[in-house]
Amino acid sequence: MAVQQGSKTEALLSKRDRYVARGVSIAPIFADHAHGARLTDADGREYIDFAGGIGVLNLGHTPDAVVAAIREQAEQLMHACFPVAAYDPYLEVCRMLCELAPGGHDKKALLINSGAEAVENAIKIARYHTGRDGVITFDRGFHGRTLLTMSLTSKLVYKRGMGPFAPEIYRATAPYPYRGISSKDALDALDWMFKATVDPASVACIILEPIQGEGGFTVMPPEFIQGLKERCEGHGILYIDDEVQAGMGRTGTLWGIEHSGVVPDMVTVGKSLASGMPLAGVIGRSEVMDSVHPGGLGSTYGGNPVACAAAIESLRAISSEEFLARAVEVGERIDARLRDLASRYPAIGEVRGIGPMAAIELVKDPSTKEPAADVAAAVVAGALERGLILLKTGIYDNVIRILVPITAPEEDLEAGLDRLEESLGAAVG
Ligand SMILES: Cc1ncc(COP(=O)(O)O)c(C=O)c1O
Repeated sequence: MAVQQGSKTEALLSKRDRYVARGVSIAPIFADHAHGARLTDADGREYIDFAGGIGVLNLGHTPDAVVAAIREQAEQLMHACFPVAAYDPYLEVCRMLCELAPGGHDKKALLINSGAEAVENAIKIARYHTGRDGVITFDRGFHGRTLLTMSLTSKLVYKRGMGPFAPEIYRATAPYPYRGISSKDALDALDWMFKATVDPASVACIILEPIQGEGGFTVMPPEFIQGLKERCEGHGILYIDDEVQAGMGRTGTLWGIEHSGVVPDMVTVGKSLASGMPLAGVIGRSEVMDSVHPGGLGSTYGGNPVACAAAIESLRAISSEEFLARAVEVGERIDARLRDLASRYPAIGEVRGIGPMAAIELVKDPSTKEPAADVAAAVVAGALERGLILLKTGIYDNVIRILVPITAPEEDLEAGLDRLEESLGAAVG
């Protein structure tokens, strides 16, 4: 986007260039304030936000009840460090998560600061509980940027030049029906891996996103998730369901894995859990979570009281019937608009997703399916010009994903979809 000479944005860009590490990629806009689905930049320009801070704002920017809870908690207790002096908001978030997570069994939870930390801890617990080292991760999976989670992650931009990676990680095939990889292909490949590459008796856990977020919004079909669970049960392997991006109502159900009917052994959650306050969690079977000795888990800030206060209000809203019904409605609206676009623009190779976790994969030619990263980049840039914040995703960077606040009013949702359509039209000519 062209930056106006003498604007605040121009000054902030040069400050950023001078002081912020280059590896932190930054969009050419600077947020000043935001509410609902609208964000205003440093120069007073308003955008409709279809990125939601990368899936963090399912309830929108600055939801009133969450902001009030943050204010109240900040005046009462901002930090104590849970292992030093415990407090009820932490207990309450754990209670809510245990009650809401899939399955009727007894569960316990742990709170930390980020999705990556949730994944790290889930794997530590799985290894401790099983006494095994191996971890199975999947093509196109994204689980974070710390050393262990970067090692699990399958996209070079996040790991190039940063090895050596953590050992005992095995990458399995994940289905991608649009590009010819079926659930059966992927399950057969896993069975072969268990014969030829790694003894399943040495595998602690598998980790999978129900819809791969950074991997291109590829939906893991129910029969694949079910097939994985069967294999896990057969070999004593724990199933970790990474709901950091797909959870919190993003697919029209509270958890993305619900669409498969599978009950995982552990769930990792983050992003929209606390509407933007840094908070993440691991929820799992009590006997699994309790296997680690006292002191073996935790962190200085993990489960910060202010973040917990935000999570209590967020969880209350997100788990409500009205919110989930609205998520389904928003999903249907987006799906109808994207399918209409696909019928008119051959550059859209596939419309996919579940509910409001929706995306279009852009290709140069629908018969060759050659990825069109240039078109995706032009759509995102064109959208920004038109006042719409959009994100790409996928290994080929050719997928446009929608992570609009589920609470977005009708007019913002429609205006955003209109701007997406105009940007696509302009990009493909
Ligand atoms: C599925 C998934 N897991 C883990 C993470 C890491 O979360 P964080 O960036 O909070 O560390 C992400 C972040 O995008 C994610 O999408």
